[in-house]
Amino acid sequence: MRHFLTLKDFSKEEILEIIDLAEKIKKKAKKGDFKHYLKDQTLGMIFEKSSTRTRVSFEVGIHQLGGKGLFLSSNDLQLGRGEPMKDTARVISRMVDMVMIRTYAQNTLEEFAEYSRVPVINGLSDSYHPVQLMADYLTMREYGKDKNPIVAYVGDGNNMAHSWLMLASKLGFELRIATPKGYEVDSTILEEALTFASSSGAVIKIGNDPKEAIKGANVVTTDTWVSMGQEGDKEKKVKDFKGYMVNVKMMSLAQKDAIFLHCLPAYRGYEVSEEVFESHADEIFDEAENRLHAQKGVMVWLDRNKEE
Ligand code: CP
Ligand code: NVA
Repeated sequence: MRHFLTLKDFSKEEILEIIDLAEKIKKKAKKGDFKHYLKDQTLGMIFEKSSTRTRVSFEVGIHQLGGKGLFLSSNDLQLGRGEPMKDTARVISRMVDMVMIRTYAQNTLEEFAEYSRVPVINGLSDSYHPVQLMADYLTMREYGKDKNPIVAYVGDGNNMAHSWLMLASKLGFELRIATPKGYEVDSTILEEALTFASSSGAVIKIGNDPKEAIKGANVVTTDTWVSMGQEGDKEKKVKDFKGYMVNVKMMSLAQKDAIFLHCLPAYRGYEVSEEVFESHADEIFDEAENRLHAQKGVMVWLDRNKEE
């Protein structure tokens, strides 16, 4: 049985297999053909943090696959009153067929998975957001940016930056990350990514200069400067991230036909300017929609690999 906790656990071939599956499922769905790959299955969805896209896409996704989504807010579960995660895992996984969790520590997901009888999907942790990257890569493919792309990530060295590191290092493309000093990516995750990169041929460049990162890139991306759980740091971060907004001037350094991706929610006037956001709204909202299709691919793939 496989879990989907981080792309670190997946080979290039497996990642591409899931993307191909997602693409196939999306094409059929667009024609009104919703094959019930997960007929009568239940997806438990545990949320310890807020969500718009993750909740809606998983709930609609499992429904379109013939199953049912169960929204479980940690505030309403006994988990919120101190019931251990490992007990929660042992109870819930006897009743549902798959679980998605949005939480803080990656360890929480790992603990749940250890005690779970069914596949567990990371719907965002402080360390990674792997399902988002599956949607992002599907979008890159749809915009013809999946062959030897140069991706520039400008902003916080957070869960999105870490997930980009894993995707690039597994698939073997060029990724440049520019963060302010003091907001670099986690050094252990970087080391792991560099190890994968040495066999995949990925080029990973880490620095503090957003212009240098964006120059000549054909995919530019960023994320909020203040992730969920860090609200108290906002004032300081806004000062420290001065000069890191992806604005028109910054975007003009990228290739002419570069796309701009954002996992959303976006904070205009902070990590991205209104003008850049609105002029790239097509790809940004295709990316958001692709959460639905990509995650259907992830769920069907995990179900197929249950017995192996
Ligand atoms: N991108 C993303 O995960 O959005 P939500 O927080 O709305 O789920
Ligand atoms: N880095 C952001 C991503 C939100 C989808 C956060 O963790 O809040």
